[in-house]
Amino acid sequence: MTHNAHRFAGATVIVTGAGSGIGRATAERLAAEECRVVAVDVSAERLAHLEQEVDGDIVTLATDITDPASTAAILELAGDRIDGLANVAGIMDGFEPTADIADATWERVMAVNVTAMMRLTRAVLPGMLAREQGSIVNVGSEAGLRGSAAGTPYTTSKHAVNGLTVSTAFFYTPRGVRCNAVAPGPVATNIEAPFRSEWAQARLGPFFQTNLPAVARPEQLAAAITWLLSDDASNVSGAIIPVDGGWAAI
Ligand SMILES: NC(=O)c1ccc[n+]([C@@H]2O[C@H](COP(=O)([O-])OP(=O)(O)OC[C@H]3O[C@@H](n4cnc5c(N)ncnc54)[C@H](O)[C@@H]3O)[C@@H](O)[C@H]2O)c1
Repeated sequence: MTHNAHRFAGATVIVTGAGSGIGRATAERLAAEECRVVAVDVSAERLAHLEQEVDGDIVTLATDITDPASTAAILELAGDRIDGLANVAGIMDGFEPTADIADATWERVMAVNVTAMMRLTRAVLPGMLAREQGSIVNVGSEAGLRGSAAGTPYTTSKHAVNGLTVSTAFFYTPRGVRCNAVAPGPVATNIEAPFRSEWAQARLGPFFQTNLPAVARPEQLAAAITWLLSDDASNVSGAIIPVDGGWAAI
């Protein structure tokens, strides 16, 4: 796909999870639109591939965003002016229903999907507020819109993403900073989601067989995320937008 738009010329946008899937497609789309991309991922190998395979102004940082020290490192690499933040990095659970949740799964899913997202958002806000300009886009999930798309830890984390999104939008839209989320349905990426519960498989299986829309391409999510990051969406804030092939309409 070629893009002739120049919506991000001169802008700097941080993208987490930029090594794979939706984050990588977002980084590629931004770079194609003349953005300076600060690409963050826990996988140095994936970031090396991104640098080798994608043209454009991309700087990378291999770091685990759950490490509190990563926030300062990301901001330092980004520099004084940060126009946008795409909080894309996320992990699934093992489709555990509530009675089967392992503490380790709960803590890791909440740490990556919610706490790290909050910390990075909190860190970019002072600069954005000082300039009265900025756009933050969070990647939620169809699991943030219903109870039948994942296990309990992931479902809980993605509902929390919605809360973080609307609360941030409420407080800061009047001061020039927009915050929105996309809620993807199934997307062809490297995300891992093994069934670790027989009951969950029995309960969710029939829903997945009858209700799931076609699997999306990461580029389809990147199109929505970059639209929300751009001034094309200048009057959009606090929106949780399903980008799910119509799943939320069922
Ligand atoms: N793929 C889907 O079907 C789907 C559906 C709904 C929502 N989502 C959401 O989309 C987002 C992106 O997922 P994806 O499907 O592109 O998955 P992916 O696994 O292909 O990409 C996610 C990237 O995030 C990175 N990452 C994971 N934990 C990290 C950490 N602690 N620090 C830094 N980087 C980390 C991974 O290394 C990976 O490169 C996630 O938030 C996910 O919950 C995906």
